[in-house]
Amino acid sequence: MPVITEIAKNYLIKLPFIKRMAKKKHVTGFNQAEEGINKIFDTYSAFTNFNGKKVIEIGPGHTWGVAKKIKEAGSEAVSIIDIEKYVPDAVLQDNPWLDYIIYPGGEMPLPEEQFDLVLSFTVYEHLRQPETTIRETFRILKKGGLAIHLIDLGDHMYYGIDPAKQFNCLRYGKKTWELMSMNRSIYVNRIRVSGWRKLHQDAGFTIIEEKPHIDEYCQGLYANGKLKYLSNFFPEDRFASNLMLVARK
Ligand SMILES: C[S@@+](CC[C@H](N)C(=O)[O-])C[C@H]1O[C@@H](n2cnc3c(N)ncnc32)[C@H](O)[C@@H]1O
Repeated sequence: MPVITEIAKNYLIKLPFIKRMAKKKHVTGFNQAEEGINKIFDTYSAFTNFNGKKVIEIGPGHTWGVAKKIKEAGSEAVSIIDIEKYVPDAVLQDNPWLDYIIYPGGEMPLPEEQFDLVLSFTVYEHLRQPETTIRETFRILKKGGLAIHLIDLGDHMYYGIDPAKQFNCLRYGKKTWELMSMNRSIYVNRIRVSGWRKLHQDAGFTIIEEKPHIDEYCQGLYANGKLKYLSNFFPEDRFASNLMLVARK
């Protein structure tokens, strides 16, 4: 897609009527599909149990069923926090135990050292202020609490369209990329494995699990002289298409 078209789309999405239309069509992640709910729950459960724990999930989108499963698994209290309201009022009325927080991003309207677990699934790549969010997760976690995040490192413009463009967003300079995507749901901050590690360590976390998934198809293309823009990245960062990160306060 020509850069200029993407810049125009990024500009147009700010217009109120286009924004309204886009929001109606917008799907967030798994959108309450049972298979997706189970996948997210199982991803978190591989690193923790929920029994008696206070839990917050960042960026559930429409997929509030994960919070329900966490509650059913014995959690003492479950909060979810998002920058847009996706969970319908009827659901909130039927589930008064669910603490739903909407905020503008950045600092979280929550007291410190409140949670045993901070969780997210395919959210961190969309953070506009990643340093602040990570600092905030450290602040709201109890000492010894865990942060468990699945971070999608792929280009969200090309999902299901062209596997050779899995990392296409990495070919643009910072300014161009922001002009193309900053206002859109396909915006990704392009932080790589080493960057997520550093941000967590700088905030005070100890990394206890770091599992990148390597895209072998793009790795093969690179070995055959293609995707040359990936040479600008550390070898460990070049082909990681997602990252499972677990860190302890
Ligand atoms: C791709 S969706 C993932 C939804 C859900 N976790 C899933 O996998 O089905 C990304 C979600 O992150 C939310 N989000 C983006 N930035 C955020 C922030 N700073 N704090 C909390 N949520 C955020 C978006 O509003 C959206 O609900």
